[in-house]
Amino acid sequence: MRTGWIALAAAAGIALSGPATSAPAASAWRLFSADDVKSAPAAERGAVVFKNSCEICHGTGNDRAGTISLGFKYGAAKPALLEQRRDLTPAVVKFYVRHGVGMMPFFRKTELSDPDLDALADYLGHRKAR
Ligand code: HEC
Repeated sequence: MRTGWIALAAAAGIALSGPATSAPAASAWRLFSADDVKSAPAAERGAVVFKNSCEICHGTGNDRAGTISLGFKYGAAKPALLEQRRDLTPAVVKFYVRHGVGMMPFFRKTELSDPDLDALADYLGHRKAR
């Protein structure tokens, strides 16, 4: 308990002494608004959508459900990070996003529009060529 309070006090100290800024933390979810996504240059749109909708589970870190699950699923055979995969095609990405898999939820068109999914599928699904 005592260590808990010390840790809390330390965390508060760090928070208070940090620079006064309204920018979201680097790991914050939904870094971009729907308007930001729409107005992003075509080449960046997929990456922006990924950050908004997928990174919370498929980002780097040992607290990301998707990254952890895919690490267990494929072991050393494939990278656990989707952004490092070279075997995904746009069609595969779209299938998983619209249907979900295991504990991954499916995304309705009202949550992730078709144009956003196209950009995302292009971003994740054509990495072989990059
Ligand atoms: C709530 C957490 C969560 C979110 C949000 C999420 N995923 Fe997943 N995703 C998972 C988990 C967990 C798995 C592994 C499921 C399994 O096979 O057991 C997975 C699996 C996948 C797979 C299958 C990969 C493979 O080869 O088996 C793809 C593709 C995928 N996710 C893409 C996405 C994309 C694109 C997004 C964003 C639109 C997204 N996911 C958002 C949790 C999530």
